[in-house]
Amino acid sequence: MSGIIVVGAQWGDEGKGKVVDVFSAQADYVVRYQGGANAGHTLVVDNKKTVLHLVPSGILHTEATCIIAAGVVLDVETLCQEINALKEAGLLQNPKQLLISDSATVLLPYHRMLDQAREQSLGQEKIGTTGKGIGPAYEDRASRKAVLFGDLFNKEALKLKLDSALKEKNFLLENYYKTKPINLNSLLKQIAEWSEQLSVYRSKDTSLLIHKALKAGKKVLFEGAQGSLLDIFHGTYPFVTSSSTLAGSALVGSGIGPGTIQKVVGITKAYTTRVGSGPFPTECDDAIGEKICQVGNEFGSTTGRRRRCGWMDLVALKYAIRINGITNLALMKLDVLSGFEEIKVCTAYEIDGQNITEYPVSPGELGRCKPVYESFKGWKEDLTQVRMLKDLPRYAQEYVNFVGNQVAIPIDVISIGPGRDQTLWVKPLF
Ligand code: GDP
Ligand code: IMO
Ligand code: MG
Repeated sequence: MSGIIVVGAQWGDEGKGKVVDVFSAQADYVVRYQGGANAGHTLVVDNKKTVLHLVPSGILHTEATCIIAAGVVLDVETLCQEINALKEAGLLQNPKQLLISDSATVLLPYHRMLDQAREQSLGQEKIGTTGKGIGPAYEDRASRKAVLFGDLFNKEALKLKLDSALKEKNFLLENYYKTKPINLNSLLKQIAEWSEQLSVYRSKDTSLLIHKALKAGKKVLFEGAQGSLLDIFHGTYPFVTSSSTLAGSALVGSGIGPGTIQKVVGITKAYTTRVGSGPFPTECDDAIGEKICQVGNEFGSTTGRRRRCGWMDLVALKYAIRINGITNLALMKLDVLSGFEEIKVCTAYEIDGQNITEYPVSPGELGRCKPVYESFKGWKEDLTQVRMLKDLPRYAQEYVNFVGNQVAIPIDVISIGPGRDQTLWVKPLF
């Protein structure tokens, strides 16, 4: 059992990229298994920032092999740009560092166009997607029309698939969304360039590779994208993404069984953020929210949008722990809470005059929930230079202990800044 799943326990942007980068020092393989370029995972090493959308966050560790597995929707244009940027920065020199499953779903420009056109047509009702084409690409997979990564290397079959896809997409784009259609030959030309660049990373069967690695006792990290509350089945539907973001999806998306998983590490901020529309009970639409946003630099890594901010929500966190089977937590961005007189934590919701502690799955109900808070004394000290747990200020320790006791699972890691070295280990990873 040498597989570890890293999963977002909130609405995304919890700091998964940082955690996976730090954990990757001890990993043989790092696997992205769902989502696509809607993800923005930030790594900071020696003050240098790298934002990854599709390439797994183990890429800065040259000895680890990064895998993009079947469950991912692969925006081949964005991936080429990302690889070029990594190469230019001298961060990706050996093509063996990255493998792409032949079974991954290819995301093409028309998916992005459809996503954006649909959002625009929804007006006030919009989901607030990243506009990266994620929904339309997963729709193609579900309707069994998707172009798979392996198809890119069979020109005749690809042409037939695209010809048929464009008949439908262009009809929608032109007649329903009143936008420009896509030309088959120009698209084929673009795809030829992208596939030529990506061919060196092609791997027919990453499921078999991961299976063999786990069997041989190699350490495999599974890197989740988005967060539990954005899950297509168990999140705040319809204000969710189009994939299952839960730990179970690591198994399905990579093509392995559950017996190989040693632990599931849930990533949570010491407060809560959300980008896009949908209910968010602890949102602080006031000076507190603004302060968290500014101090925490809460602007999206993919779209630059301002993230909505609020206090830690233990009802939602306990729900995420349950639906993922999270065994251990990483508590991120504790440094951002320095300087608040009072820190609040939501321990229950009030709805229709009653207090509840189980997360209501209906978004309508969740939208009517008011947070019930416990208050904590804040601390003034800057935490970003702390390197030993015992040096955390007393009130910061009390806050962490309270969260740990409430969730009743161990907090393994506390993060007090974006850098690799700003990481306090409570327990070793493996
Ligand atoms: P992800 O999508 O879960 O990988 O998270 P993002 O990269 O989108 O957003 C997390 C942001 O917080 C990034 O800008 C990180 O560099 C930053 N970050 C991560 N951990 C910490 C931390 O402990 N403290 C602070 N101040 N920033 C952090
Ligand atoms: P990482 O991996 C935060 C949100 C969007 C929108 C909803 C649907 O960086 O944590 P989509 O484009 O997926 O159809 O948008 O999901 N969303 C994210 N929010 N972090 C992400 O990824 C997200 N990926 C999608 O803002 O509300
Ligand atoms: Mg992000």
